[in-house]
Amino acid sequence: MPRLQHLKIACTLLALAPLSLAKGVLPGQIKNFVTFGDSYTDIAYPAADGGQAWPVYAAGYGNFTLYPFAKSGATCSNNLTYRPFPPVFGSQIPTYLEEKSNATINPNPEETIYTLWIGTNDLGVNALLTGSDAPDVSIVQVRECAVDWLKVMYASGARNFIMQNIIPLDLTILYSNYSYPNRYWDAQRNTTEWNVYMRELAKAGNEITLLMLQALAPTLPDAHIASFDSHGLFTDMYNHPQNYLNGTAPLNVTGCVNSCIFALNESTGDAGDCTVAEGTDRDSFLWYDELHPSEQSDRIVAREITAVMKGEENQWVTWLS
Ligand SMILES: *[C@@H]1O[C@H](CO)[C@@H](O)[C@H](O)[C@H]1NC(C)=O
Ligand SMILES: *[C@@H]1O[C@H](CO)[C@@H](O)[C@H](O)[C@H]1NC(C)=O
Ligand SMILES: *[C@@H]1O[C@H](CO)[C@@H](O)[C@H](O)[C@H]1NC(C)=O
Ligand SMILES: *[C@@H]1O[C@H](CO)[C@@H](O)[C@H](O)[C@H]1NC(C)=O
Ligand SMILES: *[C@@H]1O[C@H](CO)[C@@H](O)[C@H](O)[C@H]1NC(C)=O
Ligand SMILES: *[C@@H]1O[C@H](CO)[C@@H](O)[C@H](O)[C@H]1NC(C)=O
Ligand SMILES: *[C@@H]1O[C@H](CO)[C@@H](O)[C@H](O)[C@H]1NC(C)=O
Ligand SMILES: *[C@@H]1O[C@H](CO)[C@@H](O)[C@H](O)[C@H]1NC(C)=O
Repeated sequence: MPRLQHLKIACTLLALAPLSLAKGVLPGQIKNFVTFGDSYTDIAYPAADGGQAWPVYAAGYGNFTLYPFAKSGATCSNNLTYRPFPPVFGSQIPTYLEEKSNATINPNPEETIYTLWIGTNDLGVNALLTGSDAPDVSIVQVRECAVDWLKVMYASGARNFIMQNIIPLDLTILYSNYSYPNRYWDAQRNTTEWNVYMRELAKAGNEITLLMLQALAPTLPDAHIASFDSHGLFTDMYNHPQNYLNGTAPLNVTGCVNSCIFALNESTGDAGDCTVAEGTDRDSFLWYDELHPSEQSDRIVAREITAVMKGEENQWVTWLS
């Protein structure tokens, strides 16, 4: 058969495929998004990122209605990595389900996409990195938990999902090999060891998540699951800041907008010795503080996630279904 004929048949088959069999969401399909996660996604203003958080930008960029459930300090489950903040399981999901059942919110599943960006606190200080309080817990359960979020949401009726993977946390100041005592950790440590271990946790955690999602996707009829490569995006921002950062100070991926140096073992309740960038200089930084992305990084995340929600081509997304 001539190749053209093959192509024609392929196109006909594609056109006949029910919409739900096509991968990804269609342009114009998504009108709402529901967010779960930690301070990277919490929209309390000013956000932990020093300005508006990415969901607020994305809601504006794409004219989407935002239902925000992410909370600063959160881990996926306090049964795995305990922190005194509202976790995804145990707080964020129950709140969402309650608001849905008492009709505070009523998002149409077809027009709504659910996002999860979790891992920063699960992997970090006072959790996996320094030894979680649950001795059997490893990166494996912590990422299974993120995938369980998707299963629970699907069971409750959700159909469209974006799993935002873990950024290269080893590139944040807190986990860099040139780190200094800061508001998140000012006890003694070996910064080289932390840096190496964090690189492993983030990369392995992302691969485990992707493999689990690839196995899960074919088992969920009518689901559309996006794996969003935050790790790749932030690595690219780190390596090519001129493509993303636009402030009036020299571009800076190793420092932060709000940098505070502490003395070893000083109370983290103290202020520290701070260097703070102001005004348009702030948009020159990849990081807001020793752990959080800057507001300009948030605008980039928002721009890319907006494209994904609008069903546009995007280099950071892989649609698994
Ligand atoms: C934004 O979305 C709302 C609700 O979906 C719609 O009524 C409105 O026309 C949209 N605005 C723009 C500028 O597209
Ligand atoms: C966490 O532990 C509590 C108490 O043992 C239990 O009720 C709850 O179901 C557990 N949550 C998860 C997500 O495993
Ligand atoms: C619905 O549930 C949410 C979450 O628990 C609660 O904050 C809200 O007050 C409830 N609304 C009604 C009308 O019961
Ligand atoms: C940190 O690691 C980088 C890359 O491995 C290395 O070039 C650099 O010398 C290290 N810096 C410190 C302070 O150890
Ligand atoms: C920190 O850890 C690295 C890697 O294990 C090791 O080579 C180095 O000697 C340690 N530094 C100190 C001061 O213990
Ligand atoms: C940088 O670009 C963003 C859009 O991504 C814009 O909102 C912001 O105002 C710009 N910053 C400066 C200092 O020009
Ligand atoms: C980057 O920012 C830090 C403040 O966190 C500052 O100390 C450092 O000099 C800056 N680097 C460059 C290249 O401007
Ligand atoms: C910091 O605390 C550690 C552990 O308590 C101790 O071994 C170390 O000597 C202290 N260092 C300073 C400079 O206070």
